[in-house]
Amino acid sequence: MASLGHDVVGIDVDEGKVADLTAGAAPFFEPGLAELLEEGVRSGRLRFAADPAAAAGAEVHFLAVGTPQSASGPAADLRFVDAAIDGLLPHLRPGAVVAGKSTVPVGTAARLARRIAQTGATLAWNPEFLREGWAVHDTLRPDRLVVGAEDTPQGAAAVDLLRRVYAAAIDAGAPFLVTDLATAELVKGAANAFLATKISFINAMAEIAEAAGADVTLLAEALGHDSRIGRRYLGSGIGFGGGCLPKDIRAFAARAQELGRGEAVGFLHEVDAINLRRRDRAVRLVVDALGGLVFGRRIAVLGAAFKPFSDDVRDSPALEVAVRLRGLGADVVVTDPAAIENARARHPQLGDEALRDADAVVVVTEWDEYRRELHPQHAGGLVRGRIVIDGRNCLDADAWRAAGWTYHGMGRR
Ligand code: UDX
Repeated sequence: MASLGHDVVGIDVDEGKVADLTAGAAPFFEPGLAELLEEGVRSGRLRFAADPAAAAGAEVHFLAVGTPQSASGPAADLRFVDAAIDGLLPHLRPGAVVAGKSTVPVGTAARLARRIAQTGATLAWNPEFLREGWAVHDTLRPDRLVVGAEDTPQGAAAVDLLRRVYAAAIDAGAPFLVTDLATAELVKGAANAFLATKISFINAMAEIAEAAGADVTLLAEALGHDSRIGRRYLGSGIGFGGGCLPKDIRAFAARAQELGRGEAVGFLHEVDAINLRRRDRAVRLVVDALGGLVFGRRIAVLGAAFKPFSDDVRDSPALEVAVRLRGLGADVVVTDPAAIENARARHPQLGDEALRDADAVVVVTEWDEYRRELHPQHAGGLVRGRIVIDGRNCLDADAWRAAGWTYHGMGRR
């Protein structure tokens, strides 16, 4: 926002984070973010504060706090959303817009609209679709912008204000869709549910391909050429993880249940189950490849982040596979180009220097460092056993086999 010329103040309750950001340091790895942050802080258009009073006078308040899964069940925990509104209430001026970006159960926006009504400010819902690792790109060049508002003059004014805020992206061609509040909230949940379903679909096909002696990567390629289907999100392997898709599909199903329409999205439980089965399958492949027992064997795990270009290890299938192999008594060494510090903070027992003397190599995050830059011949010189399990179906199987490796993909011949 600051890079687009807006005057921005970022507010967070975590004073340590505020101090780091004020010094221009990004709190996580995200390509391109550090440069933008530094430029924003240097220009004076981007400041940070822990006190919500710093929000006073703003025309637009973006609400972007997390909505994690509740400790007690699948539903979203809205504590941070409500706390942020509590903090904002005394500082909202009439005519200001509160634009919700957090992923919330449908119906939340209407409730928040009532909460802020007495201040004369207006609530709009403006879901966020960015992908980690592509956050800067997806923010500056979004596929679409969605704004939900009430059908009132205030609602229309809020939409106009957001249209001005996003003028650069709209000029660059991003469709700007105006909806009611509930539809805007649903778009986000539905988009994530669709993406998760697409990934689990191809992983279900991987199970079938494996049983039938077919190859799921060729299948995905052939399906993807059908323009009605499309190639993206047909990447098979150990499945989806991270801070969004897993918890969002569970929260979506939980909300549908509350609305009395649980059966409409019953398939999301299946999507979740297929996805979790992939982790079991990957562990089993490693065990089988090592002759039925991993106890005491040295296993190199390449990848810890839930996806490349990220240091995020929240609900990372990569890390779970590593931890489970370790639980079976293997000597597991994990490496990752960006996420190793975060991985170690959670699981200090996982060491590094991965390939040396490994009995098997397991690729679980498709970083270019492994996909393109790791040469099977070179890797073969470091390990004890030339066994590779490709949990992301991202390696050139023929090249690895040619270098004397036994290659196992997931749903590949
Ligand atoms: C997702 C949505 O894409 C984004 O629109 C939303 O705002 C937040 O949730 P993100 O979690 O950052 O974004 O990552 P994404 O790139 O969607 O990947 C999610 C998971 O799915 C990763 O673990 C990734 O490895 C996995 N995935 C993705 C596959 O297994 N196969 C694929 O083909 C694509």
